Amino acid sequence: MCGIVGFIGQEQAAPILLDGLARLEYRGYDSAGVAVVSPRHEIQVKKSKGRLQVLSDMIHGGADVEGCIGIGHTRWATHGAPSDLNSHPHMSEGGKFAVIHNGIIENYVEIKEFLIGQGVTFRSETDTEVVAQLLEFYYNECHDFFESVGRVLRRIEGAYALGILCADCPDRIIAARKDAPLLLGYGEGCSFLASDVTAIIRHTRSVAYMEDGEVAVLTTAGIQVYNALGDPIEKERHHIDWEVSAAEKGGYPHFMLKEIFEQPQALRRAIMPRLRADRVYLEDMKLTAEKIRSFTRIFIVACGSSYHVGVIGKYNLEHLTRRSVEVVLASEFRYADPIVDENSLVIVISQSGETLDTMAALREAKKCGAYILSIVNVVGSSIARESDDVLYTWAGPEIAVATTKAYSTQLAVLDMVGLAFGEVLGTVSEDEYAEVVRELRALPEKMETVLKSCEDIQKYAAQYFNHNSVFFIGRNLDYALGLEGSLKLKEISYIHSEAYASGELKHGTISLIENGTLVIALGTYGALFDKAMSNVVEVKARGAEVLALTTESHRAEMEKTVASVLSVPDTARMLQPSLGVVPLQLFAYYVALQRGCDIDKPRNLAKSVTVE
Ligand code: F6R
Repeated sequence: MCGIVGFIGQEQAAPILLDGLARLEYRGYDSAGVAVVSPRHEIQVKKSKGRLQVLSDMIHGGADVEGCIGIGHTRWATHGAPSDLNSHPHMSEGGKFAVIHNGIIENYVEIKEFLIGQGVTFRSETDTEVVAQLLEFYYNECHDFFESVGRVLRRIEGAYALGILCADCPDRIIAARKDAPLLLGYGEGCSFLASDVTAIIRHTRSVAYMEDGEVAVLTTAGIQVYNALGDPIEKERHHIDWEVSAAEKGGYPHFMLKEIFEQPQALRRAIMPRLRADRVYLEDMKLTAEKIRSFTRIFIVACGSSYHVGVIGKYNLEHLTRRSVEVVLASEFRYADPIVDENSLVIVISQSGETLDTMAALREAKKCGAYILSIVNVVGSSIARESDDVLYTWAGPEIAVATTKAYSTQLAVLDMVGLAFGEVLGTVSEDEYAEVVRELRALPEKMETVLKSCEDIQKYAAQYFNHNSVFFIGRNLDYALGLEGSLKLKEISYIHSEAYASGELKHGTISLIENGTLVIALGTYGALFDKAMSNVVEVKARGAEVLALTTESHRAEMEKTVASVLSVPDTARMLQPSLGVVPLQLFAYYVALQRGCDIDKPRNLAKSVTVE
């Protein structure tokens, strides 16, 4: 996610902005920039692709950029690849406004077309530039900074944390927030703006958190905040007493935990811009309906957790499209002489967009003439560049080696692909389509409910962390979910763990079940709940200790047989794993914590696997 910092005071702004941005580097970024209003009331923008050091060298640590009011930004690309032009801050054509933004403006295409119709020329591919251009458009009508901001906020849809400079008002920064973090810092004769307290903690520990719909005007004399109705309000101030290193993780002890808790927000970014009224619009996908109808074979190719998303995707896509879908490990696909041709669609899934095996499989499929649709988190990554079509997951940077929020957003995007294809092919019923869209909208909130039950999970982690071998069992989507739960547990806690389709137990694995073996029984797939229960009874009869995961509607039934039960809210059948994965991530995390493992950097693992 992008990093934001703003400063107004008596000192030169640029060095303070660069220092703030350096504190945000841990979040990951691909470009950086600052904008400062000069004493001659001109906005100077300095920005570049790449490391912050490149920008800092360019302006000699900020010494070259005169002025005591400015904004700074580290960008994590969403709309448009990382480049100098796409970096923030973005200026309006006439040079009156500079804007930094974190979030996604969902209706930017429509606004951009409107402004182009008014003769405005755009320089970047970003959604953010429309905010700068629209500000100047309204300012030319009303000549009032605050009023122009209000008009823009009424016109834009989506998520934003905004920092805005106006050349005609060199005594203020205006900030606005909706569905993206933004906080205000109170100093002596100076004021700050930041996406994260880390950026300003060296200058002030007195902060206020902006709420959705609020607008703030920052001056050297203080900060005035207005609510969504435009009425001035008093904000409650908080004193930050964290250590700086803790602040970088937003107060969480590990990036993995932070990223688990960021999932509802990441899902909002991945889902909401792609839903309008009760339909899915994959406007960022080039595939036409005609092309979709032409595919005779569909493959999903990926590694690790991304492959597990594919396993769920196989069940869901086959159900929604009534086409056969093959899910293949990328490292196997490339050497398997796959039957792929011009009528094949290969869906490639990768968080990093740089996994070598996945990249090689993509190239192999492309050579055979297949159409490549990739689902990727890192904008402009190799896989994204070499694909015919890309759907970004917009999860923000993932720092912990074990993926969590990227997995969840990949899954949501793949489910939306299934819905869109099902609609084109006429293979999904109106009722199911409507139910899944409704539940996609509700998913972030339901996931927040799951995250609140984290104390229960901690309790079970403390109870079971000493086991040396664990089996995850489930059927259908629960089997696919078990694959991910098992990988999460083994990679960060080093406990030997396996996932089995419950029906397979009796074909061999059940011989491993003995007194005290831990079995994590997944029973969230309603249609096969009774079968799941039979398997629970089977393993219990052989002495297994069972921890069960089910839905709220099946909890009471599960509790008749199992003492340790976790549950998640009910949702549409195909979305159930999206909720089920959260307790499994948390269980793995708390078990690893109990065992004293290096959670964010497990042994022998790398975040991006660029070797074969
Ligand atoms: C597990 C994990 C890995 C990745 C795999 C693919 O927590 O993170 O299994 O899912 O290495 O990586 P990407 O998605 O970057 O291609």
